[in-house]
Amino acid sequence: MSSLLLIPSRPLARSFLASIALIAVILPSLSWIATPAHAEDPPWMARGKTGMVATDSPEASKIGAAVLEAGGNAFDAAVAVSFALSVARQESTGLGGGGFLLARVAKTNKVIALDFRETAPKGATPEYFAERATKTPNGPNASIYGGGAVCTPALMAGLSEINNRYGTRPLDQLARGAIELAENGFTVDEHFLHARDEAKKTFEKWPELKRDGARLHDWLFHDDLKVGDHLKNPALARGLKEIAELGGRAFYEGPIADDILRASQSTGGLLTRDDLAKYQIKEREPLLGFFGNYDIYTMPPPSSGGIAMLETINIVESAGLRLDLPPPLFPHLLVEAFKHAFADRAKFLGDPDFCEVPARLVNKAYASFLCARIRPGSAGSSEGYGGDPPPKEDKGTSHFCIADKEGNIVAMTETINAGFGSFVVSEEFGILLNNQMDDFLTVRGEANLYGLKQSDNNLVAPGKRPLSSMTPTIVMLKDKPVLTLGGSGGPRIITAVTQVLLHTLQFRRPLPDAVAAVRLHHQWMPDEIYFDRKPSDKLFELLSQLGHKLSEERKEAAVQAIQFLEDGTLVGVSDPRKGGAPVAPKN
Ligand code: DON
Repeated sequence: MSSLLLIPSRPLARSFLASIALIAVILPSLSWIATPAHAEDPPWMARGKTGMVATDSPEASKIGAAVLEAGGNAFDAAVAVSFALSVARQESTGLGGGGFLLARVAKTNKVIALDFRETAPKGATPEYFAERATKTPNGPNASIYGGGAVCTPALMAGLSEINNRYGTRPLDQLARGAIELAENGFTVDEHFLHARDEAKKTFEKWPELKRDGARLHDWLFHDDLKVGDHLKNPALARGLKEIAELGGRAFYEGPIADDILRASQSTGGLLTRDDLAKYQIKEREPLLGFFGNYDIYTMPPPSSGGIAMLETINIVESAGLRLDLPPPLFPHLLVEAFKHAFADRAKFLGDPDFCEVPARLVNKAYASFLCARIRPGSAGSSEGYGGDPPPKEDKGTSHFCIADKEGNIVAMTETINAGFGSFVVSEEFGILLNNQMDDFLTVRGEANLYGLKQSDNNLVAPGKRPLSSMTPTIVMLKDKPVLTLGGSGGPRIITAVTQVLLHTLQFRRPLPDAVAAVRLHHQWMPDEIYFDRKPSDKLFELLSQLGHKLSEERKEAAVQAIQFLEDGTLVGVSDPRKGGAPVAPKN
């Protein structure tokens, strides 16, 4: 199948006039979304001159900054950070998962995209999941828990590629920090404890999971853990040492592969030796979109994030030219734009190696067509969103940003999908396996864990990559970096990254405020707006009056970002929602 070719043209009218009109549309609504600016820098923000590491784990940020201080580059730091996150954020990511890297390479001044997304094993078919759904209709979902939920782990292949192509330090050096963390124990924080409590509820709901998830269960619940405790992971320390000694191939062909296969086979999984040995990362052409004078580089399919974000901001930009949209309606406009973008996500997106993804989704002209269907005075019903119908019918992820003094920029999102993935952990080397299978459409007509409806373009098939929402992004202005960001939180990644980007570039809010601001989320279906915190009564009322359905349920995402100020200062921000802290290198 042809891959996506996206070269949106820079519209002539990205003119001054358009920008002014857009500001006029957006600014008056700011007060509803605003959070007070901070008198002092909050602990989840850092300033640096020579580099920055912003992750969702303070311990991983320190390990990354130490690599920069010792003369490593952003890619070396990324590998060390990723190993460290495997230990310190086991609820969110790890070697049993996969991810995407978007990076600016200083030497060539090019932005590159690497896809180390997991693939469905050979035996993964819609029939397999349909049969399981029929057999145990009230049991744990086969695409979420246990061996059947596991796609071929891909993170280690990604780290090896990053290290081989751009690294300057050997893998064993970069794994050292993570090994120490696993041996001495990482610091338990609120996020981890919350994820543990959620896992506890799941084990209570389906006690049979204690069989497939026995090792995770023993590790999580043997003690009365509290914030500040140190939790060791000797098995994972052994796994990391094995990688340090034998290299990344140990994961795909060596002793770790054997361990993973045993874990998969003993839990009814589909992974085979062949799936592991044949896993291939892919280099993708980054998506490039334009907003005002900014060049926005972001992740193409198999992520839906880049397309959905660009589609949204194109609609927002296009609305700037519409005089009939009165100023206080920005949140309404944003919700309607998200509904279009998520409708298109559901209808058109999937692994570009398996289906045709229409290039027009990120065109400015297409955005104005969708924008024209937005009614300033009311919310539309779900049928009216997105393009024509197709012919046929904040837990398991971690994002980090790193900048170094050479000008390299790393924006990397990695995931095991849901909190603690499939719950399956390999015995000897402690590899916690993903449940990325649930990002596919596994049973036709059913929504996935995140409530996402999807088309056959994302139907599970052997060797296929599940559609993702991960949105690592780098914004440049005339070849100079301005902002890099990305997030975790399933489909909320798309809406969160879009809002932080708009707050920063369009509203000129300080980055910590842009990240901390209350966020809304709409994913087309279910037809409801979710906030991540209680919105103001005024906003609530306004959106209700327009006919939007507002959910009381709170849905979060966490964003990590670095802003490049004109005086050379780098501002790093780790989302206070997750408890990370950025660290700037001392030299
Ligand atoms: O790739 C995706 O879209 C999902 N696997 C992301 C899941 C996620 O962000 C979970 N939350 N923190």
